[in-house]
Amino acid sequence: MGQIPFSLILISLLVTLPVYHTTAHQECSNLNTVPHQVRAGYWFSHTNRYSPVYNINTSFYTHLYYYSLSLDDVHSQVALPPNDQLPLLATFSATLKAQNPSLKTILSISTDDRHQTNVSSAAFSSMVGNQTLRMSFINSAIELARNHAFDGLDLAWQFPSSSSDMTSLGILLAEWRARINEEAKNSSSTLLLTATAYFSNHLFDGPVDNLDYPIDSISDNLDWANVLCFGYHKNSDLTALDAPLYDKASHFSTSYGITSWLVAGIPACKLVMGVPLYGRSWILKNKMKNELGAPVVAMGPRQKVSNQTGLMAYSEIKETLKDPNIVFVYDNQTVSAYFHSGDLWVSFDSIEVVEVKIEFALQKRLLGYFLWPISFDDSNYTVSKQASEVWLRNHDSPYDEDENGFEQAPSPAQPPSPAQLPSQDHALTPSAAFSGSRTHKLHLDLYILLFLLFYLSTI
Ligand SMILES: *[C@@H]1O[C@H](CO)[C@@H](O)[C@H](O)[C@H]1NC(C)=O
Ligand SMILES: *[C@@H]1O[C@H](CO)[C@@H](O)[C@H](O)[C@H]1NC(C)=O
Ligand SMILES: *[C@@H]1O[C@H](CO)[C@@H](O)[C@H](O)[C@H]1NC(C)=O
Ligand SMILES: *[C@@H]1O[C@H](CO)[C@@H](O)[C@H](O)[C@H]1NC(C)=O
Ligand SMILES: *[C@@H]1O[C@H](CO)[C@@H](O)[C@H](O)[C@H]1NC(C)=O
Ligand SMILES: *[C@@H]1O[C@H](CO)[C@@H](O)[C@H](O)[C@H]1NC(C)=O
Ligand SMILES: *[C@@H]1O[C@H](CO)[C@@H](O)[C@H](O)[C@H]1NC(C)=O
Repeated sequence: MGQIPFSLILISLLVTLPVYHTTAHQECSNLNTVPHQVRAGYWFSHTNRYSPVYNINTSFYTHLYYYSLSLDDVHSQVALPPNDQLPLLATFSATLKAQNPSLKTILSISTDDRHQTNVSSAAFSSMVGNQTLRMSFINSAIELARNHAFDGLDLAWQFPSSSSDMTSLGILLAEWRARINEEAKNSSSTLLLTATAYFSNHLFDGPVDNLDYPIDSISDNLDWANVLCFGYHKNSDLTALDAPLYDKASHFSTSYGITSWLVAGIPACKLVMGVPLYGRSWILKNKMKNELGAPVVAMGPRQKVSNQTGLMAYSEIKETLKDPNIVFVYDNQTVSAYFHSGDLWVSFDSIEVVEVKIEFALQKRLLGYFLWPISFDDSNYTVSKQASEVWLRNHDSPYDEDENGFEQAPSPAQPPSPAQLPSQDHALTPSAAFSGSRTHKLHLDLYILLFLLFYLSTI
């Protein structure tokens, strides 16, 4: 043991430090289309009856998604909606931009289309696996976006289910980006490209293990990724929280999902966190047993706006909560809310939950958040307004990153420590506990550096 090994360590540290700390910035500045912030909303075309486009108050959003069109797997092109919905698609962007010219609209292409239930994830799988089909799909998507004055495109594949899907997805995104850049030369703007993805970078409930998103391609080719931070316990036979921010007992939480993406290497400035405007409902087995984890016998009844069993729109929840006999619970440890009334039990994101989640996104320095879907907000756009106000208040108020000002603010609940997280596949390592906070990383490195200097001076 002499001075040489330690000098080597010191030199390598000094060499790698600056690279390490500027990676995120470089990855975010290599696309000139990257916006400063994203306060997005998904608008579901099949809810037009309850939430017409001209009623949307666009002041609460920077980006609005038309959700969604599907894949015509015969021609490998984006499928047009049924004829009665064509005018809606054609006027969506113009209607919204007439109200707010700085708003950007994005056309989402998904596996979740209500009109073409037979177009499955398997159809996406075949398309992305073949170069000819990919190019045909990409060209049709770009043409459709331009013809209807959209500013961007989104791929909402829910979800890739094999490692070849993941590899092909990475190739698709690279080809799509190249084509968009090429097309931009003939246009006054560059189309945005985003993807709607699973809450975690690793798929837990897929048919195969070891299924991770192609992080490099996502980071290099997308303007950002929207991650679906909800739906954590869809098929539970016990009452459960659909989208808690924290969960000490499992990895099904928004903090876990967001952290997993960051640890995997996506820059925070390319990550956008989802917030649900629906609640998940169940019928209790015994209405006297109405706590979290109580047995249920069925999904809650179909409601008018959501038009699906087991789901309630925020607007419908708000109406229901006017009944003074309803028991409403906000849990500040998991950051979640639920209510029960007779044998109905509903987990949802109350205004309090939304506020804390938006603050979490700010603490993690994420690019923004999205609401899913804005069609479920009440007629005053209460959630959209609140989310936007909390974001703008904190995002635009200057704070000194090195002072760590924001993170010292009292937080309602601590995220689980690494030791409390599950040890299987994606357990967060101690270094992961520092992810999302460049300041923490920097401090850690400086301590190591000081320690080494001190050590060297003693030999
Ligand atoms: C949208 O909301 C803002 C802020 O609450 C309000 O000032 C504005 O009048 C609303 N616009 C419309 C068209 O309702
Ligand atoms: C979907 O598939 C079912 C059964 O295979 C078939 O009967 C139905 O016509 C298909 N629907 C469409 C829109 O293709
Ligand atoms: C890709 O799709 C095209 C068009 O359907 C087909 O002609 C070709 O054989 C496919 N290529 C492969 C490798 O499957
Ligand atoms: C750009 O426009 C030129 C001339 O109209 C055309 O030949 C070319 O194919 C276009 N390029 C792209 C990428 O659309
Ligand atoms: C509700 O969903 C059913 C099918 O699940 C559909 O037939 C019906 O048209 C939908 N109603 C509305 C109002 O969208
Ligand atoms: C919307 O706001 C108005 C005025 O504050 C209020 O009277 C009304 O009840 C609100 N509607 C809903 C659905 O919250
Ligand atoms: C969380 O809720 C508990 C019980 O209601 C309360 O005692 C505690 O002060 C709350 N903590 C915060 C940070 O709000």
